[in-house]
Amino acid sequence: MSKISKKATNDFCPQTLFLYGTNNEDGSPDLGLFCWFSYVWDGEMGVMCCIGGEKRTRQNIEREKVFSANLVTEKLLPLADHFGNVKGEDPEKMKFKPEIGKGEVLPVPVLNDSPVVFELEVKEFVKLHDGEVIICRIRNVLQDEELSAPDISTEEKLAKIAPVRTTCTEYFSYSGKSMGKWGEPRKSL
Ligand SMILES: Cc1cc2nc3c(=O)[nH]c(=O)nc-3n(C[C@H](O)[C@H](O)[C@H](O)COP(=O)(O)O)c2cc1C
Repeated sequence: MSKISKKATNDFCPQTLFLYGTNNEDGSPDLGLFCWFSYVWDGEMGVMCCIGGEKRTRQNIEREKVFSANLVTEKLLPLADHFGNVKGEDPEKMKFKPEIGKGEVLPVPVLNDSPVVFELEVKEFVKLHDGEVIICRIRNVLQDEELSAPDISTEEKLAKIAPVRTTCTEYFSYSGKSMGKWGEPRKSL
């Protein structure tokens, strides 16, 4: 297959989506949508993520050094798309409020409807010129109980929770079906 060269892009490299839950200065929750999220090894499994530019989520994490990462599913997509397209400072941001609880180990807002939630504590900030890589310790993982059922296959469990992926500024269902361009799913709210 012949290839063509492209400028830096991650098109056609699908990424898993997470809603980061942070505490604002007044104690209210903020939610932002993120996909530059992966894992590190440092004696135990940890998380690394990149936040580009100035964002409410970034300010909150720098101040509190704790946050949650909530797996985005098809059911959560319209809300997730809203939280990825409206800035934390915008009064419209928390107009749509999902059911929010607290972490089991850390004082972080968590989405009750997300089947997998990481409770994260910052180990290290790596400041870049216009962004920041954040390396975190996983203090707890909250998973829906049904994901531990021994008699159900991983394939069936994934099909049930239906995590959403993204590439080429578009969302895709776990089975690979288009779920709309960024900014579209929120129109159904
Ligand atoms: C699909 C999608 C993925 C995103 N992933 C990231 C990301 O990994 N890093 C980042 O800095 N911003 C990312 N964003 C942008 C933030 O979600 C957006 O700036 C949001 O408004 C931040 O909310 P906040 O101001 O409350 O922090 C993404 C947006 C979308 C729509």
